[in-house]
Amino acid sequence: MSQFRRIGVLTSGGDAPGMNDVVRSVTRAALSNGVEVIGINGGYSGLVNDNVRHLSARDVSNIVNIGGTILYSDRCKEFKTEEGMAKAIAVCEKYNIDGIVACGGDGTFRGATDLSNRGIPTIGIPGTIDNDITSTDYTIGYDTAMNTAMEMIDRLRDTCESHARCNVVEVMGNHAGGIAIQSAIACGAVACVICEKNFDEKAMMDKIKRLRADGKRGFIVVVSELIPNYAEEGFAKRIQEETGVETKFARLAHVVRGGNPTLRDRVTASRMGSRAVAELLCGKSNLVICEQAGEIVSVDINLAQTADRLYKGKAKPEELDRYSPEEKKIILALGDKKRKRFDDMYALLEEISG
Ligand code: F6P
Repeated sequence: MSQFRRIGVLTSGGDAPGMNDVVRSVTRAALSNGVEVIGINGGYSGLVNDNVRHLSARDVSNIVNIGGTILYSDRCKEFKTEEGMAKAIAVCEKYNIDGIVACGGDGTFRGATDLSNRGIPTIGIPGTIDNDITSTDYTIGYDTAMNTAMEMIDRLRDTCESHARCNVVEVMGNHAGGIAIQSAIACGAVACVICEKNFDEKAMMDKIKRLRADGKRGFIVVVSELIPNYAEEGFAKRIQEETGVETKFARLAHVVRGGNPTLRDRVTASRMGSRAVAELLCGKSNLVICEQAGEIVSVDINLAQTADRLYKGKAKPEELDRYSPEEKKIILALGDKKRKRFDDMYALLEEISG
């Protein structure tokens, strides 16, 4: 039987559809195991500022289908300071919080490690629309965001076709091109600009000219945000000048971050939430709950973060030295898998857009 009295649950970083399903799953799974639950409001800032509330089974009723997060979210700078961390630990002690489930992106996992190192066992759940956590094939919110992007781009397609125009559409992703490349494929885009692949602008211009000569009326070009020279109106102007096709620019921005979670997000969040509680109750800590090849698995949070930094080009070379040869292999394979997925999707788009 577990010695846990209470666990805390929080959502941190950019909100993502499905976070409420995590909160519900964690709460219900804990209560089913005789453990009380404290909801921490506003991510880590709720710990720093003593802003928490008791969660009953009824408190998490009727949220399974709602976007955003009932616990609210924040990116808390104070939590990263010594003073902020001391306040957070004091709040955990005050409310007898014996362990925490933290749902968010890579910043959230750094916070989880800090708490674990201070004696509060913490488990991370990947919740971000960006799908940019290297240790997991999937992050909660990604499917909903992609479907929203698809729906919005479909609307632009309608009007592009009617008016024989091109539309450049910028979608979120924070240096990760998953939402962009998948919605580009799903919406029949002629091209897609993502950080993960070099973009040949001239080839795209030539293609648009060739396709227009062939009778194609509407064109969609999807661009992932934050890419200089492309995620901006000027790119649309260049397309218009170079190809003669009238071109508009649209930025979907936070629209793709809201909305009711899809079935994929609800089920994945429910599975991950329950797994996180199970891990905590059997004494585990410092893990990220991941999905790999359709299975829910637990990955050491330090290994997950090294894999992430390596993939994102932020790791110092000596960072790999502390891992065994077997672990190094796992870390490298995670990055390779992610790169291959982008190569395949990009090649698919090139092959079938025309
Ligand atoms: O991480 C989720 C995300 O929506 C990114 O796609 C985007 O770059 C960022 O958050 C936007 O952050 P904010 O909500 O602070 O504008």
